[in-house]
Amino acid sequence: MENNTAAFGRMPDGGAQVDQITLDNGWLRCQVLTYGGAVRSLEVPDRDGRPVDVVLGFDTLEDYLAQDKYMGAIVGRYANRIAGARFTLHDKEYVLCANDGPNSLHGGAVGFDKRVWTAEEVKQDAVTLSLASPDGEEGYPGNLEVRVTYQLYQDTLRILYWARCDQDTVFNPTNHSYFNLSGHASGRVEDQHIRLFSDHYTPIGPGLIPVRTADGDGCEMPVLPVDGTPMDLRRAQPIGARIGEDFPQLALAGGYDHNWVLRPNSGLPAAMAFSKNTGIAMSVHTDMPGIQFYAGNFLGGCPAGKGGAAYGDRCGFCLETQFFPDSPNRPDFPSCVLRAGEEFHSQTSYRFFCRDSIDTP
Ligand code: GLA
Repeated sequence: MENNTAAFGRMPDGGAQVDQITLDNGWLRCQVLTYGGAVRSLEVPDRDGRPVDVVLGFDTLEDYLAQDKYMGAIVGRYANRIAGARFTLHDKEYVLCANDGPNSLHGGAVGFDKRVWTAEEVKQDAVTLSLASPDGEEGYPGNLEVRVTYQLYQDTLRILYWARCDQDTVFNPTNHSYFNLSGHASGRVEDQHIRLFSDHYTPIGPGLIPVRTADGDGCEMPVLPVDGTPMDLRRAQPIGARIGEDFPQLALAGGYDHNWVLRPNSGLPAAMAFSKNTGIAMSVHTDMPGIQFYAGNFLGGCPAGKGGAAYGDRCGFCLETQFFPDSPNRPDFPSCVLRAGEEFHSQTSYRFFCRDSIDTP
């Protein structure tokens, strides 16, 4: 066991101890909490070699318990929304917790983000966290075992997800880090660049639930092309460049908070981001079929962040790799069903490097 684990706090009413594990590979430094499996800090060298903490987080466990932003956390069992907080699998209906109006968001009332995980294996540059989610927890079927590994590999933070269940179930884990590539305390992110390697997105209706929309010929379309809309982020552009445009999809979500459809097996990243202040660029790679780009539209109202930083709206953005929202109710989307006894494996990585500018071929 490496000596890089320290007590961070204790859950209320004499509950479990929460630890913080500090990973360091000489290039990146990352603090991970057993509470929510959250990434609390991630230090990355800027263009002058100075470490910049590029994720938002809090100083105390009490602050984590007081916020509802899924700050840095592992989200599950089902990241994003399930319409009507219910789904049917093998002719049986499962009723979930409606914690976002009539819909279920990010695993329900006590999702993975609010659980204390067990640090199974701690190394200097990696930690594996585990969690057991019993049959029926938050309404989901099956006893689910989950493991998440955070690993620093050269200039990359890798997140490896593993799971197995004793019944057929649905499963869609993600990480909910809020990035600010100018530094977590540097304020709004609208001047930072975003690029998504995606030609389509899943259009939403009320409650941010994906809807089928009719195209010009009256055909039902589960996804829409980004062409000619502010959803077209195929060329790097400041997050704020088009976020305020008069476009119904943006009005519904108060800005970018949508699922983009990734190009399978393209070898390309899913996303890139860049801060001209620090020169820090990030690329995101994943084997998941979608990515939620959330511009932190309603981040405000959480406790003061690390060192007293004020985290208002749009002071961080999330790039949540995922199955599409509401997949359990959408047979036309890639399947999020995890079969009994099968192993779930998935990997998302965030790579950091410095640039003078972000090039768009
Ligand atoms: C996700 C959702 C957002 C919001 C945040 C948490 O990114 O898509 O709408 O719920 O989580 O605040």
